[in-house]
Amino acid sequence: MEIRVTRHPNPPAPPRGDFGFGSIFTPHMFEIPFRDGAWGRPVIVPYHDIVLDPAAKVFHYGQEIFEGMKAYAHPVDGSVHMFRPDMNIARFGHSCDRMCMPRVDPELFMDALKRLIDLDRDWVPKSPDALYIRPTMISTQRGLGVKASTEYLFYIIIGPVGSYFAGGSKPLRVKVEDTYVRSAPGGVGGAKTGGNYGAALLPIKLAQQEGFDQIVWLDARTMASIEEMGAMNIAFVYADKVITAATGDTILKGVTRDSVGVLCRDFGLNWTETPPLVREICADADSGKLLEAFACGTAAVITSIGSFSYGGQDHRVSDGQEGPVTRRLREALCAIHAGTSDQHPEWIEKVPVFAHV
Ligand SMILES: Cc1ncc(COP(=O)(O)O)c(C=O)c1O
Repeated sequence: MEIRVTRHPNPPAPPRGDFGFGSIFTPHMFEIPFRDGAWGRPVIVPYHDIVLDPAAKVFHYGQEIFEGMKAYAHPVDGSVHMFRPDMNIARFGHSCDRMCMPRVDPELFMDALKRLIDLDRDWVPKSPDALYIRPTMISTQRGLGVKASTEYLFYIIIGPVGSYFAGGSKPLRVKVEDTYVRSAPGGVGGAKTGGNYGAALLPIKLAQQEGFDQIVWLDARTMASIEEMGAMNIAFVYADKVITAATGDTILKGVTRDSVGVLCRDFGLNWTETPPLVREICADADSGKLLEAFACGTAAVITSIGSFSYGGQDHRVSDGQEGPVTRRLREALCAIHAGTSDQHPEWIEKVPVFAHV
């Protein structure tokens, strides 16, 4: 399907310096409406407000999904590429199914990403900064009544970002959350839908008030095993293995998590998907058996975890600093992101230069 482009009449210049995270957007966006059982015309237009009826279903029943992915500018030749966008497109499809929303044609999705990023390619910073990409779908039909919407808007906005955490790459101090839960078996934890994040705001706020950077979620059924973190997956490094929880319907299938698993195997590390039992993890941190722990996600990339608090007790991981395995994985992944590594060229999707007629 041809994507019609209307250029911004007077686009602002890209900003320089510290981008922060998620508050700067480029002059253009992609959008396509869905109505009467079919997708309409796809367009790239100047970034604009969205006007919706107050009774639009998205405001009442949370039929909303999104993705988070990144593009980078090559430090030498300036070419622009995305990191594993096919994985995000597939996960978006899964979120569509779970939230009863229509799927987007993966080819159109990829074309939209490439054309939008190309149009605003001057805004793509060099690694470790990046262009953050936020594909989103909302239900737009007017009318109350708990029923799937018949109308939707799929759009993509993009903008330069720096570090996700205020402390940069400083090791995180995290709290294992033993009161609130993120998701339950049969729920929507495996989908990237807004409600998962809204429900997490209160426990995150409470943890931050206690001085923690992030919370770690336990499984809702037994509260015994560690599942993931606020917007990232989590892994634990032992002398003979690196462990992480298996994904299912309670954990988001992270693209970074998958990539880290592959890199671990490349490096001869034993990547093992098994429930990390919180009591064992804490005891192993205390005894020194647990060598390292790290969070991984598109926004956080790979960030080491210096200590856990569980049930009011602090458990430091080794010396509380980034360990050698975390560093090796982070450096390998960052080089792939930047486009300067020859590892896994299949993870890099170049953004071509289009004529934009
Ligand atoms: C809840 C949750 N878990 C894990 C992740 C990590 O996924 P990815 O590596 O694809 O960013 C994210 C971020 O998207 C997330 O929101």
